[in-house]
Amino acid sequence: MPTSNVAAFRPAATNNLDAFWMPFTANRQFKDAPRMLVSARDMHYVAADGRKILDGTAGLWCVNAGHGRPKIVEAVQRQVAELDYAPAFQMGHPKAFEFASRLAALAPAGLDHVFFANSGSEAVDTALKIALAYHRARGEGQRVRLIGRERGYHGVGFGGISVGGMVANRRTFGLGLPGVDHLRHTHDPARNAFTRGLPEHGAELADDLERLVALHGAETIAAVIVEPLAGSTGVLLPPQGYLERLRAICDRHGILLIFDEVITGFGRLGAPFASDRFGVTPDIMTTAKGVTNGVVPMGAVLASEAIYKAFMSGPEHMIELFHGYTYSGHPLACAAGLATLDTYQEEGLLTRAARMEKQLEDAAFALQDLPHVIDIRAIGLVAAIELEPIEGEPSRRAFSAFLKAFEKGLMIRTTGDIIALSPPLIVSEAQIDEMFGTLADVLREIG
Ligand SMILES: Cc1ncc(COP(=O)(O)O)c(C=O)c1O
Repeated sequence: MPTSNVAAFRPAATNNLDAFWMPFTANRQFKDAPRMLVSARDMHYVAADGRKILDGTAGLWCVNAGHGRPKIVEAVQRQVAELDYAPAFQMGHPKAFEFASRLAALAPAGLDHVFFANSGSEAVDTALKIALAYHRARGEGQRVRLIGRERGYHGVGFGGISVGGMVANRRTFGLGLPGVDHLRHTHDPARNAFTRGLPEHGAELADDLERLVALHGAETIAAVIVEPLAGSTGVLLPPQGYLERLRAICDRHGILLIFDEVITGFGRLGAPFASDRFGVTPDIMTTAKGVTNGVVPMGAVLASEAIYKAFMSGPEHMIELFHGYTYSGHPLACAAGLATLDTYQEEGLLTRAARMEKQLEDAAFALQDLPHVIDIRAIGLVAAIELEPIEGEPSRRAFSAFLKAFEKGLMIRTTGDIIALSPPLIVSEAQIDEMFGTLADVLREIG
């Protein structure tokens, strides 16, 4: 394997790096020492300097079946030649219906109707709008409040950042949606640090919803949205009993429960959805990422029969929900999605994480005594190693770990001072050892 410097990629004059304003990236740092990926296959990327990089993050939590999977590649190639685009409004194409049916069959019982979007952010906006419109359709149009949770991540649309709870994603973008409130987050290292499995403490934090009901009145609240496992803010596992309690409080007050499964959907936690793993079914579920293995952008919102039915009244020639995207149910995304589901099912990938999680957890907890480590969390094929921040320089330590890992041929993801690992679900036992072995070296080397 070639071992040239990671900074070896230098753009030609006609392709300088200035024009592309990179998302969620330290642009100046990147452009000074680019980390450029040029191809990928199965568990590995290839960098511009020819080095193989082990993908410890399934791209951005999306390439669950690994890279360059033949069935998916061929399906997209065939589709683009056969039907490149079809209008999404007042017209249909067969694969959108087929894919929706397949998703509904896979989803927890009762989530039978699928609305297509093109990203997690759009899926979240769609879910919030469906919740508001649902109550209005039933004559409860005063239910306009939306409840999110601190440290939640629901993408970057105005809906998502309003209900989301990542401070940096909110503070520079105005006031967001009115009438939004937040539950407290469940991260409690003082009581739960280094817990294996679900944290023991914190179920009572679901009662925050009762507090908000008492404050605002249940009759003003449309929906609560949470990630069953908060991914982007550092792999925060739900405390034992928390989700059940949230479900019960929602039921008591006629509030819709939305699970944002953009990260947890499609096998990450060892079951098709986190709802399956935790045995709690929401009224609406948002998905994206793994829905197409990351190959073509797509988001899919699954809604209950009761919600769908509430809209199916009035004159039959009238549009029931004034919402949709030019690319809702895009033919390439549906073709990719169908082939992705085939691949997941043929290879047993939607439950494979359950078989691998013990090894992953053991490998993660083996780092417990290394420098800077203040907490470790793991479930399914996802793990987090939380580091002590450098005083006065939050996120610098984990970013150094990210750069050092890339130098050593491993892609990890960091948020604040938390390292998250979420490899493709095809990861081998040897590759799990390799990932955590490299990470151990990284932690010993960084300051
Ligand atoms: C839980 C959750 N919701 C929504 C999103 C936003 O998805 P996208 O980046 O596709 O808009 C993400 C992305 O990481 C996510 O983790």
